[in-house]
Amino acid sequence: MKFIAGNWKMNGSRSLLDDMVKDLEAVDTENKIILCVPFTMLGKTSDKIAFGAQDVSAQAKGAFTGEISAGMLADANAKYVIIGHSERRQYHGETNNIVRNKATQALANGLIPIICVGETMEEKQAGKTMAVIESGVRESVPSDVNTDIIIAYEPRWAIGAGLTPTDVEIADAHALIAKTLEDMGLAGTPVLYGASVKGSNAADIMSIPNVDGVLVGGASLKSDDFIPIITSVK
Ligand code: PGA
Repeated sequence: MKFIAGNWKMNGSRSLLDDMVKDLEAVDTENKIILCVPFTMLGKTSDKIAFGAQDVSAQAKGAFTGEISAGMLADANAKYVIIGHSERRQYHGETNNIVRNKATQALANGLIPIICVGETMEEKQAGKTMAVIESGVRESVPSDVNTDIIIAYEPRWAIGAGLTPTDVEIADAHALIAKTLEDMGLAGTPVLYGASVKGSNAADIMSIPNVDGVLVGGASLKSDDFIPIITSVK
């Protein structure tokens, strides 16, 4: 079983989601399908598809206009929440510290955080990829986790760019993340790969050791693109 998570980002509509859900319901798979949709589209959970949000407040409740709390996401039937996606880190200044606080809120409210880590092109070129990944995991994951979490390795330079790292680069990154999680007492935590996943590369990527699934952006918006990724692996 692999995790196949879609990240719709700020795309789609409720009617597009209805169509997607209908198409996904008909897919014969044992993989775990997660759709991370905009807040306004949450609430359509079924047996086959689990829903997730794409961000959550680091605060529990109160005078934080415009924020959505983890409790509200749980109340809206979300099971998962992406935290620290590279676009949040890039456009909203989210640091590992903020990501950890958000993940703490998610866990306190029974949500499974999908915590994203990954290097920018600048960091890659400076030879800092492994250091950024390791500190990303160590600093973004709360210290007292005693329930499920998911990590997503997303090389930031490859997202939405049609670029992917080599298989060896993915293998090295995932081996490091798995080892770091083991050191932290979190052995067995699923680690997803994300950035420019499509039907034609999904099976290859998911055959790499320590890759427990994929986080898919652009190719999760149309069933013709998303379903081949889901069915590319058993
Ligand atoms: P992409 O996005 O698949 O469009 O590269 C991945 C992501 O941002 O999660």
